[in-house]
Amino acid sequence: MSIALCIFAQNMENKTFYIETYGCQMNVNDSEVVAAILKAADYRLTERINEADIIFINTCSIRENAEQRVWGRLDVFRLEKRRNPSLLVGVLGCMAERLKEDLLGKGVVDMVVGPDAYRQLPLLVAEAEVGQKGINVLLSREETYADISPVRLDKNGVSAFVSIMRGCNNMCAYCVVPYTRGAERSRPPETILREVRELFDKGYREVTLLGQNVNSYSWTEASATMNFAQLLEQVALVNPLLRLRFATSHPKDMSDELLHTMAKQPNICRHIHLPVQSGSSRILELMNRKYTREHYLERIAKIKAVLPDSAISTDIIAGFCTETLEDHNYTLSLMKEAGFDQAFMFQYSERPNTKTARHFKDDVPAEEKTRRLNEIIALQNKLSLQANQKEIGQQREVLVEGLSKRSSEQLFGRTSQNKVIVFPKKNYRSGDYVQVQIERCSSATLFGLPLD
Ligand code: SAH
Ligand code: SF4
Ligand code: F3S
Repeated sequence: MSIALCIFAQNMENKTFYIETYGCQMNVNDSEVVAAILKAADYRLTERINEADIIFINTCSIRENAEQRVWGRLDVFRLEKRRNPSLLVGVLGCMAERLKEDLLGKGVVDMVVGPDAYRQLPLLVAEAEVGQKGINVLLSREETYADISPVRLDKNGVSAFVSIMRGCNNMCAYCVVPYTRGAERSRPPETILREVRELFDKGYREVTLLGQNVNSYSWTEASATMNFAQLLEQVALVNPLLRLRFATSHPKDMSDELLHTMAKQPNICRHIHLPVQSGSSRILELMNRKYTREHYLERIAKIKAVLPDSAISTDIIAGFCTETLEDHNYTLSLMKEAGFDQAFMFQYSERPNTKTARHFKDDVPAEEKTRRLNEIIALQNKLSLQANQKEIGQQREVLVEGLSKRSSEQLFGRTSQNKVIVFPKKNYRSGDYVQVQIERCSSATLFGLPLD
């Protein structure tokens, strides 16, 4: 039977697939693209693993423990396969791209598909169904899946991710992303606007524009170039009731123009995620981040001047190669000076074949990395609490996302500043905007009362 006929035969049976996602928001959105591609080929999505004919796992390689988690899941899928020998397992995403054929050697894996090869999935599945293990990890200079409307896998129907670019050209010395995702490329603006309009019409009220470095978004057509600030403004004009967020901004590229665009458009949320990684200029240089501590703090000062009600969050790496106590203390002092509202904090994890793996020794002992990370976390908890305490007494507009996990009498949502807030349900529903008076807080959550 030819492959075309094979696909036809499957279609008649409507085989089901299940997809599990690890890693960043871009991976969440990629799983939605994968779901769209497979549904268009008449595969049926299931949320129950025991119903699935095919299990996909969309993976992350950013730190060693991200990969460990995926290996753990593959062990579980191996057991599932014993119960159901016709079950197929496909590894997608960054680990597929990094480990390639090595994954096929592990017995449990039938397909290995990198982030730019998802259009090939129906073909690879058809081949796997006739016993041919398949791999496609080709990276592309053009692929942005621009024409595909992702099948939304979120549960709330209120907030969605929209990728505006793929890949990364920054070559931070510690990072696998340029290798697993390939070169940076931007998506045509009209396809972004179309997707955002469709989301609004379906009832979504918050969209997060995604890219590894959104500030370098650039689209040229008929000799006119659109940059990120201009794109953001266009998207903000889709509807004043649609909230906009974006991630991630790179400190070397975050422009004043972007801040002024945010100030002009009230539906662009008052929150900037600006990963600093380290407070020591010496370490930043080794990391190839291309900015100094002073430049970073100048950007923070500018945000505070142009957008005084904006929250700022960051990413921090503890225990990078050669980091001394003095460098670490620079990180702590920068955190205090910036007064971050929130931070994602990690121990440095050496990734094979990156510049640091090739040229530096991972020389901060594991216990010392953990100690420094714990110090950073303890400080951030204090800073988050202080930032939240400043919210007490304020009135904030909250977009309701759903029922609070702790009580069915309470709802949760987010303020424009990206702070999670819990308040009494009354008659509000997901997708409503509610004015809430903030009454108390913890370091992670605000608690308030609706004003009307
Ligand atoms: N493109 C974004 C972040 C992508 S990865 C940016 O540049 O900000 C998310 C975060 O993971 C990074 O900001 C960094 O803090 C962390 N990270 C990346 N590689 C890492 C590594 N090898 N070890 C520890 N943390 C790492
Ligand atoms: Fe990695 Fe740096 Fe690119 Fe972020 S900007 S994805 S940290 S290389
Ligand atoms: Fe992980 Fe790849 Fe995202 S390594 S953080 S899933 S781009």
